[in-house]
Amino acid sequence: AKTKKVAVLPGDGIGLEIVEEGVKVLKQAGEQFGYHFEVEHALIGGGAIDRLGTPFPEATNQLCRESDAVLLGAVGGPKWDQNPPELRPEKALFDLRQGLGLYANLRPASLFPGLEGSSTLRSEVLKDVDLLVVRELTGGIYFGDKWTEEKEGGATATDTLVYHEYEIERILRRAFELARGRRRKVTSVDKANVLESSRLWRKVAKRVAKDYPDVELEHMLVDNCAMQIIRRPKDFDVIVTENMFGDILSDEAAILTGSIGLLPSASLGEGSRGLYEPVHGSAPDIAGQGVANPAATILSVAMMFRHSFHDEEAARAIEQSVRQVLAEGARTADLATSDELALSTDQFGDWVVEVLKQHNPDP
Ligand code: NAD
Ligand code: IPM
Ligand code: MN
Repeated sequence: AKTKKVAVLPGDGIGLEIVEEGVKVLKQAGEQFGYHFEVEHALIGGGAIDRLGTPFPEATNQLCRESDAVLLGAVGGPKWDQNPPELRPEKALFDLRQGLGLYANLRPASLFPGLEGSSTLRSEVLKDVDLLVVRELTGGIYFGDKWTEEKEGGATATDTLVYHEYEIERILRRAFELARGRRRKVTSVDKANVLESSRLWRKVAKRVAKDYPDVELEHMLVDNCAMQIIRRPKDFDVIVTENMFGDILSDEAAILTGSIGLLPSASLGEGSRGLYEPVHGSAPDIAGQGVANPAATILSVAMMFRHSFHDEEAARAIEQSVRQVLAEGARTADLATSDELALSTDQFGDWVVEVLKQHNPDP
Protein backbone atom coordinates (compact mmCIF):
# COMPACT_ATOMS: atom_id res chain seq x y z
CA ALA A 1 0.00 0.00 0.00
CA LYS A 2 1.05 3.60 -0.61
CA THR A 3 1.72 5.23 2.75
CA LYS A 4 0.62 8.86 3.08
CA LYS A 5 0.54 11.15 6.06
CA VAL A 6 -2.48 13.45 6.21
CA ALA A 7 -2.83 16.30 8.69
CA VAL A 8 -6.45 16.98 9.65
CA LEU A 9 -7.26 20.43 11.01
CA PRO A 10 -11.00 20.71 11.77
CA GLY A 11 -10.82 24.28 13.12
CA ASP A 12 -13.98 26.02 14.30
CA GLY A 13 -17.76 26.04 13.80
CA ILE A 14 -18.96 23.67 11.11
CA GLY A 15 -15.31 22.84 10.38
CA LEU A 16 -15.57 20.21 13.12
CA GLU A 17 -18.63 18.63 11.50
CA ILE A 18 -17.70 18.65 7.82
CA VAL A 19 -14.12 17.46 8.25
CA GLU A 20 -15.38 14.28 9.90
CA GLU A 21 -17.25 13.43 6.71
CA GLY A 22 -14.18 14.25 4.63
CA VAL A 23 -12.10 11.86 6.72
CA LYS A 24 -14.72 9.11 6.32
CA VAL A 25 -14.47 9.40 2.56
CA LEU A 26 -10.67 9.66 2.68
CA LYS A 27 -10.48 6.40 4.62
CA GLN A 28 -12.96 4.58 2.41
CA ALA A 29 -11.17 5.69 -0.77
CA GLY A 30 -7.85 4.75 0.81
CA GLU A 31 -9.09 1.22 1.42
CA GLN A 32 -10.36 0.84 -2.11
CA PHE A 33 -7.41 2.39 -3.89
CA GLY A 34 -4.57 0.85 -1.90
CA TYR A 35 -3.42 3.47 0.59
CA HIS A 36 -2.19 3.27 4.12
CA PHE A 37 -3.08 6.62 5.69
CA GLU A 38 -1.48 8.04 8.80
CA VAL A 39 -4.16 10.53 9.81
CA GLU A 40 -3.27 12.94 12.58
CA HIS A 41 -5.49 15.71 13.98
CA ALA A 42 -4.27 19.09 15.24
CA LEU A 43 -5.64 22.37 16.56
CA ILE A 44 -5.98 25.50 14.44
CA GLY A 45 -7.89 28.78 14.63
CA GLY A 46 -10.14 29.85 17.48
CA GLY A 47 -9.95 26.49 19.26
CA ALA A 48 -6.16 26.74 19.26
CA ILE A 49 -6.34 30.29 20.64
CA ASP A 50 -8.58 29.11 23.47
CA ARG A 51 -6.42 26.13 24.42
CA LEU A 52 -2.90 27.18 23.49
CA GLY A 53 -3.06 30.95 23.16
CA THR A 54 -2.16 31.05 19.47
CA PRO A 55 -4.15 30.40 16.26
CA PHE A 56 -1.36 28.39 14.62
CA PRO A 57 0.57 26.39 17.24
CA GLU A 58 4.07 25.23 16.41
CA ALA A 59 3.00 21.57 16.77
CA THR A 60 0.37 22.12 14.07
CA ASN A 61 2.93 23.80 11.84
CA GLN A 62 5.33 20.87 12.32
CA LEU A 63 2.65 18.30 11.59
CA CYS A 64 1.69 20.06 8.35
CA ARG A 65 5.34 20.21 7.24
CA GLU A 66 5.74 16.46 7.85
CA SER A 67 2.54 15.59 6.00
CA ASP A 68 1.87 14.81 2.35
CA ALA A 69 -1.41 16.71 2.50
CA VAL A 70 -3.47 18.86 4.86
CA LEU A 71 -7.26 18.68 5.17
CA LEU A 72 -8.70 21.82 6.77
CA GLY A 73 -12.27 22.57 7.82
CA ALA A 74 -12.65 26.28 8.54
CA VAL A 75 -11.61 28.78 11.17
CA GLY A 76 -13.15 31.84 12.78
CA GLY A 77 -16.21 32.91 14.68
CA PRO A 78 -17.78 35.80 16.61
CA LYS A 79 -15.95 34.82 19.79
CA TRP A 80 -12.60 35.96 18.35
CA ASP A 81 -13.75 38.76 16.03
CA GLN A 82 -12.49 41.55 18.30
CA ASN A 83 -9.01 40.03 18.69
CA PRO A 84 -5.93 41.85 17.35
CA PRO A 85 -4.63 40.61 13.96
CA GLU A 86 -2.02 38.23 15.42
CA LEU A 87 -4.61 36.57 17.66
CA ARG A 88 -7.33 36.12 15.09
CA PRO A 89 -8.20 32.62 13.85
CA GLU A 90 -7.75 33.78 10.25
CA LYS A 91 -4.07 34.49 10.94
CA ALA A 92 -3.52 30.72 10.97
CA LEU A 93 -4.66 30.47 7.36
CA PHE A 94 -2.13 33.07 6.25
CA ASP A 95 0.71 31.37 8.15
CA LEU A 96 -0.23 27.97 6.77
CA ARG A 97 -0.61 29.13 3.16
CA GLN A 98 2.48 31.29 3.14
CA GLY A 99 4.59 28.97 5.31
CA LEU A 100 4.10 26.06 2.93
CA GLY A 101 4.47 28.26 -0.16
CA LEU A 102 0.97 27.42 -1.39
CA TYR A 103 0.53 30.30 -3.80
CA ALA A 104 -1.92 28.64 -6.21
CA ASN A 105 -5.48 28.26 -4.99
CA LEU A 106 -7.69 26.22 -7.32
CA ARG A 107 -11.43 26.71 -6.89
CA PRO A 108 -13.51 24.81 -9.45
CA ALA A 109 -17.23 25.45 -9.88
CA SER A 110 -19.45 23.40 -12.15
CA LEU A 111 -23.07 22.42 -12.35
CA PHE A 112 -24.16 19.13 -10.76
CA PRO A 113 -26.89 17.14 -12.52
CA GLY A 114 -30.09 17.52 -10.55
CA LEU A 115 -29.23 20.91 -9.11
CA GLU A 116 -30.26 22.98 -12.14
CA GLY A 117 -33.16 24.38 -10.12
CA SER A 118 -31.22 24.99 -6.91
CA SER A 119 -29.52 28.22 -7.89
CA THR A 120 -31.12 31.63 -7.65
CA LEU A 121 -30.12 31.96 -11.32
CA ARG A 122 -32.21 30.59 -14.20
CA SER A 123 -31.30 27.05 -15.24
CA GLU A 124 -30.67 27.91 -18.92
CA VAL A 125 -27.89 30.28 -17.78
CA LEU A 126 -26.25 27.47 -15.82
CA LYS A 127 -26.23 24.69 -18.42
CA ASP A 128 -22.67 23.50 -19.13
CA VAL A 129 -21.07 25.78 -16.55
CA ASP A 130 -17.57 24.52 -15.75
CA LEU A 131 -15.05 27.08 -14.59
CA LEU A 132 -11.94 27.16 -12.46
CA VAL A 133 -10.89 30.16 -10.42
CA VAL A 134 -7.11 30.21 -9.96
CA ARG A 135 -6.57 32.58 -7.06
CA GLU A 136 -3.13 33.91 -6.11
CA LEU A 137 -2.92 33.02 -2.43
CA THR A 138 0.26 34.30 -0.81
CA GLY A 139 0.56 37.89 -1.99
CA GLY A 140 -1.38 41.08 -2.52
CA ILE A 141 -3.29 43.11 0.02
CA TYR A 142 -3.62 40.18 2.44
CA PHE A 143 0.11 40.15 3.05
CA GLY A 144 1.14 43.80 2.67
CA ASP A 145 2.01 45.99 5.64
CA LYS A 146 -1.05 47.21 7.54
CA TRP A 147 -1.42 49.67 10.36
CA THR A 148 -3.81 52.06 12.07
CA GLU A 149 -2.89 55.50 13.37
CA GLU A 150 -5.04 57.14 16.01
CA LYS A 151 -5.06 60.89 15.41
CA GLU A 152 -6.99 63.78 16.79
CA GLY A 153 -9.25 64.27 13.80
CA GLY A 154 -9.95 60.49 13.69
CA ALA A 155 -8.07 57.31 12.95
CA THR A 156 -6.39 56.36 9.67
CA ALA A 157 -6.14 52.70 8.64
CA THR A 158 -3.80 51.54 5.87
CA ASP A 159 -3.45 48.27 3.94
CA THR A 160 -0.84 47.95 1.21
CA LEU A 161 -1.20 45.93 -1.98
CA VAL A 162 2.13 44.68 -3.30
CA TYR A 163 2.85 42.25 -6.15
CA HIS A 164 6.26 41.17 -7.37
CA GLU A 165 6.70 40.15 -10.98
CA TYR A 166 7.74 36.58 -10.02
CA GLU A 167 4.55 36.11 -8.00
CA ILE A 168 2.42 37.14 -10.94
CA GLU A 169 4.39 35.06 -13.42
CA ARG A 170 4.17 31.78 -11.49
CA ILE A 171 0.42 31.99 -10.92
CA LEU A 172 -0.17 32.91 -14.57
CA ARG A 173 1.92 29.93 -15.70
CA ARG A 174 -0.08 27.67 -13.42
CA ALA A 175 -3.31 28.99 -14.93
CA PHE A 176 -2.11 28.40 -18.49
CA GLU A 177 -0.94 24.86 -17.63
CA LEU A 178 -4.33 24.09 -16.09
CA ALA A 179 -6.14 25.54 -19.10
CA ARG A 180 -4.29 23.05 -21.32
CA GLY A 181 -6.09 20.24 -19.52
CA ARG A 182 -9.43 22.01 -20.00
CA ARG A 183 -10.94 24.24 -22.72
CA ARG A 184 -7.76 26.26 -23.36
CA LYS A 185 -9.05 29.66 -22.36
CA VAL A 186 -7.65 31.95 -19.64
CA THR A 187 -9.43 35.06 -18.40
CA SER A 188 -7.00 37.23 -16.47
CA VAL A 189 -8.94 39.46 -14.11
CA ASP A 190 -7.53 42.73 -12.80
CA LYS A 191 -8.28 46.40 -12.18
CA ALA A 192 -5.70 47.73 -14.60
CA ASN A 193 -7.64 50.96 -15.14
CA VAL A 194 -6.89 51.96 -11.55
CA LEU A 195 -4.23 49.85 -9.83
CA GLU A 196 -0.52 49.92 -10.54
CA SER A 197 -0.19 46.28 -9.41
CA SER A 198 -2.89 45.33 -11.93
CA ARG A 199 -1.03 47.07 -14.75
CA LEU A 200 2.02 44.97 -13.92
CA TRP A 201 -0.24 41.91 -13.72
CA ARG A 202 -1.58 42.53 -17.22
CA LYS A 203 1.88 43.11 -18.66
CA VAL A 204 3.16 39.85 -17.19
CA ALA A 205 0.07 38.00 -18.38
CA LYS A 206 0.71 39.13 -21.94
CA ARG A 207 4.34 38.06 -21.77
CA VAL A 208 3.60 34.63 -20.24
CA ALA A 209 0.85 34.03 -22.83
CA LYS A 210 3.48 33.96 -25.59
CA ASP A 211 4.69 30.62 -24.19
CA TYR A 212 1.17 29.20 -24.53
CA PRO A 213 0.07 30.03 -28.09
CA ASP A 214 -2.44 27.16 -27.95
CA VAL A 215 -4.33 28.87 -25.10
CA GLU A 216 -6.55 31.91 -25.62
CA LEU A 217 -5.94 34.80 -23.21
CA GLU A 218 -8.48 37.52 -22.48
CA HIS A 219 -8.19 40.35 -19.96
CA MET A 220 -11.19 41.50 -17.98
CA LEU A 221 -11.67 44.19 -15.36
CA VAL A 222 -12.88 42.74 -12.10
CA ASP A 223 -16.11 44.72 -11.86
CA ASN A 224 -17.14 43.58 -15.31
CA CYS A 225 -16.10 40.00 -14.44
CA ALA A 226 -18.33 40.03 -11.36
CA MET A 227 -21.19 40.81 -13.71
CA GLN A 228 -20.29 38.45 -16.57
CA ILE A 229 -19.80 35.50 -14.20
CA ILE A 230 -23.52 35.46 -13.49
CA ARG A 231 -24.62 36.74 -16.91
CA ARG A 232 -22.83 34.22 -19.16
CA PRO A 233 -20.93 31.85 -16.83
CA LYS A 234 -20.48 29.09 -19.42
CA ASP A 235 -18.09 31.31 -21.39
CA PHE A 236 -15.48 31.10 -18.63
CA ASP A 237 -12.90 28.33 -18.45
CA VAL A 238 -9.95 29.38 -16.25
CA ILE A 239 -10.16 32.67 -14.36
CA VAL A 240 -6.81 33.76 -12.92
CA THR A 241 -6.65 36.66 -10.53
CA GLU A 242 -5.03 38.23 -7.48
CA ASN A 243 -5.74 37.20 -3.92
CA MET A 244 -8.67 39.39 -2.87
CA PHE A 245 -10.45 39.44 -6.24
CA GLY A 246 -10.23 35.63 -6.28
CA ASP A 247 -11.68 35.40 -2.80
CA ILE A 248 -14.71 37.45 -3.79
CA LEU A 249 -15.29 35.98 -7.25
CA SER A 250 -15.16 32.39 -5.96
CA ASP A 251 -17.92 32.98 -3.41
CA GLU A 252 -19.93 34.54 -6.22
CA ALA A 253 -19.26 31.51 -8.43
CA ALA A 254 -20.76 29.29 -5.70
CA ILE A 255 -24.16 30.57 -6.74
CA LEU A 256 -23.73 28.91 -10.13
CA THR A 257 -23.70 25.52 -8.38
CA GLY A 258 -26.53 26.29 -5.96
CA SER A 259 -24.63 26.45 -2.65
CA ILE A 260 -21.31 27.48 -1.22
CA GLY A 261 -21.45 24.11 0.51
CA LEU A 262 -20.47 22.51 -2.81
CA LEU A 263 -17.24 24.38 -3.60
CA PRO A 264 -13.90 22.66 -2.87
CA SER A 265 -10.41 24.04 -3.12
CA ALA A 266 -6.78 22.97 -3.41
CA SER A 267 -3.85 25.19 -2.46
CA LEU A 268 -0.61 24.19 -4.13
CA GLY A 269 3.01 25.23 -4.36
CA GLU A 270 5.86 23.76 -6.37
CA GLY A 271 5.84 20.26 -4.85
CA SER A 272 3.10 17.69 -4.31
CA ARG A 273 2.17 18.78 -0.83
CA GLY A 274 -1.15 20.58 -0.77
CA LEU A 275 -3.78 22.10 1.48
CA TYR A 276 -7.38 21.08 0.84
CA GLU A 277 -10.33 22.97 2.24
CA PRO A 278 -13.86 24.02 1.33
CA VAL A 279 -14.23 27.55 -0.04
CA HIS A 280 -16.78 28.41 2.64
CA GLY A 281 -16.09 29.42 6.22
CA SER A 282 -17.05 28.22 9.69
CA ALA A 283 -20.71 29.26 9.27
CA PRO A 284 -21.39 30.28 12.89
CA ASP A 285 -25.09 30.69 12.04
CA ILE A 286 -25.55 26.91 11.59
CA ALA A 287 -22.62 25.50 13.61
CA GLY A 288 -23.28 22.72 16.11
CA GLN A 289 -26.54 21.62 14.50
CA GLY A 290 -25.20 18.88 12.23
CA VAL A 291 -26.88 20.42 9.18
CA ALA A 292 -23.93 21.77 7.18
CA ASN A 293 -23.27 20.47 3.69
CA PRO A 294 -20.07 18.35 3.73
CA ALA A 295 -19.85 18.07 -0.08
CA ALA A 296 -17.28 20.86 -0.46
CA THR A 297 -14.99 19.10 1.99
CA ILE A 298 -15.52 15.68 0.41
CA LEU A 299 -14.77 17.17 -3.01
CA SER A 300 -11.64 18.74 -1.51
CA VAL A 301 -10.54 15.21 -0.55
CA ALA A 302 -10.98 14.26 -4.21
CA MET A 303 -8.69 17.14 -5.13
CA MET A 304 -6.16 15.79 -2.59
CA PHE A 305 -6.04 12.47 -4.45
CA ARG A 306 -5.65 14.30 -7.76
CA HIS A 307 -3.04 16.91 -6.87
CA SER A 308 -1.06 15.43 -3.97
CA PHE A 309 -1.29 11.69 -4.68
CA HIS A 310 -1.53 12.01 -8.48
CA ASP A 311 -4.39 9.53 -8.42
CA GLU A 312 -6.93 10.62 -10.99
CA GLU A 313 -8.98 7.43 -10.67
CA ALA A 314 -9.59 7.83 -6.94
CA ALA A 315 -10.34 11.54 -7.40
CA ARG A 316 -12.93 10.80 -10.07
CA ALA A 317 -14.50 8.00 -8.06
CA ILE A 318 -15.12 10.41 -5.17
CA GLU A 319 -16.42 13.15 -7.46
CA GLN A 320 -18.66 10.68 -9.26
CA SER A 321 -20.04 9.48 -5.91
CA VAL A 322 -20.95 13.03 -4.88
CA ARG A 323 -22.52 13.63 -8.29
CA GLN A 324 -24.53 10.44 -7.96
CA VAL A 325 -25.94 11.09 -4.48
CA LEU A 326 -26.95 14.59 -5.58
CA ALA A 327 -28.60 13.17 -8.70
CA GLU A 328 -30.42 10.66 -6.48
CA GLY A 329 -31.79 13.53 -4.38
CA ALA A 330 -29.42 13.78 -1.41
CA ARG A 331 -29.90 17.30 -0.01
CA THR A 332 -28.64 18.99 3.09
CA ALA A 333 -30.63 21.98 4.37
CA ASP A 334 -28.82 24.50 2.13
CA LEU A 335 -30.23 22.72 -0.94
CA ALA A 336 -33.36 20.97 0.34
CA THR A 337 -36.75 22.30 -0.71
CA SER A 338 -38.14 21.67 2.78
CA ASP A 339 -36.59 21.09 6.19
CA GLU A 340 -38.36 17.74 6.52
CA LEU A 341 -36.53 16.44 3.46
CA ALA A 342 -33.09 17.65 4.53
CA LEU A 343 -30.32 15.20 5.40
CA SER A 344 -27.96 15.77 8.28
CA THR A 345 -24.25 16.29 7.64
CA ASP A 346 -23.35 12.72 8.55
CA GLN A 347 -26.26 11.19 6.62
CA PHE A 348 -24.97 12.90 3.49
CA GLY A 349 -21.43 11.69 4.17
CA ASP A 350 -22.61 8.12 4.83
CA TRP A 351 -24.51 8.11 1.55
CA VAL A 352 -21.41 9.19 -0.36
CA VAL A 353 -19.41 6.39 1.32
CA GLU A 354 -22.08 3.82 0.36
CA VAL A 355 -22.00 4.88 -3.28
CA LEU A 356 -18.20 5.00 -3.33
CA LYS A 357 -18.12 1.38 -2.11
CA GLN A 358 -19.99 0.38 -5.29
CA HIS A 359 -17.36 1.96 -7.50
CA ASN A 360 -15.94 -0.44 -10.06
CA PRO A 361 -12.23 -0.04 -10.71
CA ASP A 362 -11.17 0.96 -14.21
CA PRO A 363 -10.57 -2.12 -16.36
P1 NAD B 1 -19.35 31.43 5.71
O1 NAD B 1 -18.87 30.84 4.43
O2 NAD B 1 -18.89 30.77 6.96
O3 NAD B 1 -20.95 31.44 5.69
C1 NAD B 1 -21.69 32.18 4.74
C2 NAD B 1 -23.12 31.61 4.63
O4 NAD B 1 -23.04 30.35 3.95
C3 NAD B 1 -23.76 31.34 5.97
O5 NAD B 1 -25.13 31.60 5.90
C4 NAD B 1 -23.52 29.85 6.19
O6 NAD B 1 -24.49 29.22 7.00
C5 NAD B 1 -23.56 29.31 4.77
N1 NAD B 1 -22.68 28.13 4.62
C6 NAD B 1 -21.33 28.13 4.59
N2 NAD B 1 -20.88 26.88 4.47
C7 NAD B 1 -21.94 26.06 4.43
C8 NAD B 1 -22.12 24.64 4.34
N3 NAD B 1 -21.07 23.80 4.25
N4 NAD B 1 -23.37 24.14 4.34
C9 NAD B 1 -24.43 24.97 4.42
N5 NAD B 1 -24.33 26.32 4.52
C10 NAD B 1 -23.10 26.85 4.53
O7 NAD B 1 -18.93 32.96 5.69
P2 NAD B 1 -19.06 34.09 6.84
O8 NAD B 1 -20.30 33.89 7.60
O9 NAD B 1 -18.82 35.36 6.15
O10 NAD B 1 -17.81 33.82 7.79
C11 NAD B 1 -17.90 33.12 9.03
C12 NAD B 1 -16.52 32.91 9.62
O11 NAD B 1 -15.78 32.02 8.79
C13 NAD B 1 -15.67 34.18 9.70
O12 NAD B 1 -14.99 34.14 10.92
C14 NAD B 1 -14.70 34.07 8.56
O13 NAD B 1 -13.48 34.72 8.78
C15 NAD B 1 -14.51 32.58 8.50
N6 NAD B 1 -14.09 32.05 7.20
C16 NAD B 1 -13.13 31.08 7.22
C17 NAD B 1 -12.73 30.48 6.05
C18 NAD B 1 -11.69 29.42 6.12
O14 NAD B 1 -11.38 28.92 7.18
N7 NAD B 1 -11.07 29.05 5.01
C19 NAD B 1 -13.33 30.84 4.84
C20 NAD B 1 -14.32 31.83 4.85
C21 NAD B 1 -14.70 32.43 6.04
C1 IPM C 1 -11.18 31.99 2.25
C2 IPM C 1 -11.51 32.89 3.41
C3 IPM C 1 -10.24 33.52 3.95
C4 IPM C 1 -9.63 34.35 2.84
C5 IPM C 1 -10.48 34.39 5.20
C6 IPM C 1 -11.18 33.63 6.28
C7 IPM C 1 -9.21 34.97 5.72
O1 IPM C 1 -12.45 33.84 3.05
O2 IPM C 1 -10.40 31.03 2.42
O3 IPM C 1 -11.72 32.20 1.17
O4 IPM C 1 -10.06 35.48 2.59
O5 IPM C 1 -8.66 33.87 2.23
MN1 MN D 1 -13.35 33.50 1.11
